Amino acid sequence: MLSKCKMPIAHEVMVGLDDEAAKVIERLIWGPEQVEIVPIVGMAGLGKTTLAKKVYNDSSVICNFHTRLWCTVSQEFNMKSLLIQILCPDAKHSRVDDEFQNLDEHVLLEMLHKKLMKNRYLVVFDDVWDIGAWHELGIAFPNDKNGSRIIFTSRSSNVASQVQYGGEPHYLRPLSEKESFELLQKKVFGKEDCPQALHGLGMEIAKKCRGLPLALVVVAGVLATIEHDICVWEEFAESLTSTMVSGTDQCKKSLELSYEHLPYHLKACLLYFAAFREDEKIGAKNLMRLWIAEGFVEKVEGKRSEDTAEEYLMDLIGRNLVMASESRSIGGVKTCYIHDLIFEFCKTEAKAKNFLQVLRGYDELSTFNVPPYLHRLSICSSGEDFIKSKLFCPHLGTLLFFDATPGDEFELRNISFLFCIYKHLEVLNLEDINLRLKELPTEVESLLCLRYLALKGRTMEFIPPSIAKLSHLETFILNSCMTVSLPDSIWNMKNLRHVYVRGDVAIGLSSNDNNVVENLSNLDTLSTLCIYFDQGGENILRRIPNVRRLKIFCLALNALNRACRNMSQLECLESLTLGSFNFSGSREHVELSFPMNLKKLCLSYLGLPCRKMSLIEQLPNLEVLKLRVQSMEGQKWELMEGGFPKLRVLTLSELDFVEWTETDPHSDDYFPCLQQLKLLKNSNLEMVPACLGRISTLETIKVRFCRDGVDSLVRKIEEAQKNYGNENLKVIIIG
Ligand SMILES: Nc1ncnc2c1ncn2[C@@H]1O[C@H](COP(=O)(O)OP(=O)(O)O)[C@@H](O)[C@H]1O
Ligand SMILES: [Mg+2]
Repeated sequence: MLSKCKMPIAHEVMVGLDDEAAKVIERLIWGPEQVEIVPIVGMAGLGKTTLAKKVYNDSSVICNFHTRLWCTVSQEFNMKSLLIQILCPDAKHSRVDDEFQNLDEHVLLEMLHKKLMKNRYLVVFDDVWDIGAWHELGIAFPNDKNGSRIIFTSRSSNVASQVQYGGEPHYLRPLSEKESFELLQKKVFGKEDCPQALHGLGMEIAKKCRGLPLALVVVAGVLATIEHDICVWEEFAESLTSTMVSGTDQCKKSLELSYEHLPYHLKACLLYFAAFREDEKIGAKNLMRLWIAEGFVEKVEGKRSEDTAEEYLMDLIGRNLVMASESRSIGGVKTCYIHDLIFEFCKTEAKAKNFLQVLRGYDELSTFNVPPYLHRLSICSSGEDFIKSKLFCPHLGTLLFFDATPGDEFELRNISFLFCIYKHLEVLNLEDINLRLKELPTEVESLLCLRYLALKGRTMEFIPPSIAKLSHLETFILNSCMTVSLPDSIWNMKNLRHVYVRGDVAIGLSSNDNNVVENLSNLDTLSTLCIYFDQGGENILRRIPNVRRLKIFCLALNALNRACRNMSQLECLESLTLGSFNFSGSREHVELSFPMNLKKLCLSYLGLPCRKMSLIEQLPNLEVLKLRVQSMEGQKWELMEGGFPKLRVLTLSELDFVEWTETDPHSDDYFPCLQQLKLLKNSNLEMVPACLGRISTLETIKVRFCRDGVDSLVRKIEEAQKNYGNENLKVIIIG
């Protein structure tokens, strides 16, 4: 394992993009009233996506457009999933996509048209390979002559030259030698200078990357981890020499080298990316659970495997082989992806090393000769083709299926035969196939080695008691729309760590027998636990003493009461999401006691009286607070002095309060760490606390769909912050 000091440094450094960005921004904001496509063109790894992102997130661009949308097209695109991606960017993580899935392409096109109409829009199509997509999509983009813009990024300048609205390509230039060295040195040494003795070699290495940022950052990832010694660098510079001359080949060479320098466990983790779809944003938590189930993550005494896995991910990110896409409000990476050149490399290498077989489409599936040693298989095809292919590989340890046409849902009414074939599976992901069953077949018990199981069954309500035979199971993911009842027998599944039911569905854990004292002391994540009755919730919480992330949905006021009262016993709990129905009845008597270690708290429909907010304000470790729809009740929320000592992120959405004040407007003892404030649809709000104008840590304030009055209050805060010397505060007001 890497020692701490050798951990590569991950800096968000950008080099030489300011002038390029300024040119593109100028074309977005100025220029013709007509819709115009601004193509950003250049070879793979040159920084097109990076430039497009920089421009997309520039505050002058944000303020100039009413609607901004982003979608990644990539080589194998599918029109419907593209449309869903544009219309519903969080589709994978919410249930909105269910509604969209069943809609016809034309309906989706029309929805998009409606969404864009009369709005000044900016839509980015990242990585367009051929113009076919645009011919079909184009009709959804109205030309209201209001300065709307479309950005294409592409490797080919042809894609946008002959189409309607097509504008002059913006050819992205490679970095100069000076910039190349600057990027390399910043990535390797951070803020420190490159030691004089390594300067020349650094220059030489930078030059060999031919101005390609991807090659540079990957090479820097290696240099940061090897010894900073002339001989070692000399050797590395030599190995980088490629007889081939094209930039792409140079990139490949640097990738190979970087891969060779990876420690063994990270090689497996990186190659595993080949199992996913190209350009897919991969949920980091899930990826890490897969690594653990695969046995890639070293077990360290006294350390949670998830923490070790996270170090691996951060290491790969530090080496610039994996890119973080979104981060979590609570810190850490939420989604990540790899560059398509790295993806290609992983695919080839994984196959060559018999690490993983990837099959795409019916042709590859139907002609595939299953080798006897095949251990891991990832299939990306239509569900129909996968089932039709009847692949027989009884020794398979890992089977991952990904739908190549996510727009058309494939349904299966019988899964038992699969369970009976693949008896040695340790990892099974069939989340892209909808099992049209009310109950998971008992044959699941055949999969005795299973450690990771992810399924989708929108109508699934029951899990059979036989599931407890899967005594190695660590992760159980089920995407259902129903309330799923887990059997009592799960209390015997001692290795269970993550139980995750997607959507706003709930898990009903029946536990009638109060004498049973079985605990799931390893359980780390439980989402979403549904509590109906007075006692149920209490009993369940007692049996998951070490849970760290918990989502609860209460169906009755009594249940809420009892759950809240017992919450503080969960000493490991770091993240809690608590929701309930919008049921009537006073919450005056809800006895709240949150665990002291809580770092993140999300509430909705809780109807907490404002004056009880101090219970939350006092939490010593709270970093993220999201108060959503009707989670707080009352007209006036007065902040207590010394409250929220560690709060970084605060979201207030759809609350009815009118006055938001502080006990002493002259005191600075409020929110000493606040970085982000989001105000969303707080339609009655008339007053915000003055202290907001003086919090030096504040980075962004986002206001969406609040009264005009709120907008001007926020502008005043911005002014106060400026006078106070905080020039970097970003204020974004929309709607
Ligand atoms: N100007 C730059 N400064 C620093 N890093 C960059 C720059 N441009 C690109 N990169 C890095 O290079 C890699 C490839 O960039 P990307 O934008 O994905 O390339 P493309 O989309 O052209 O294939 C990414 O890791 C990115 O962070
Ligand atoms: Mg790109």
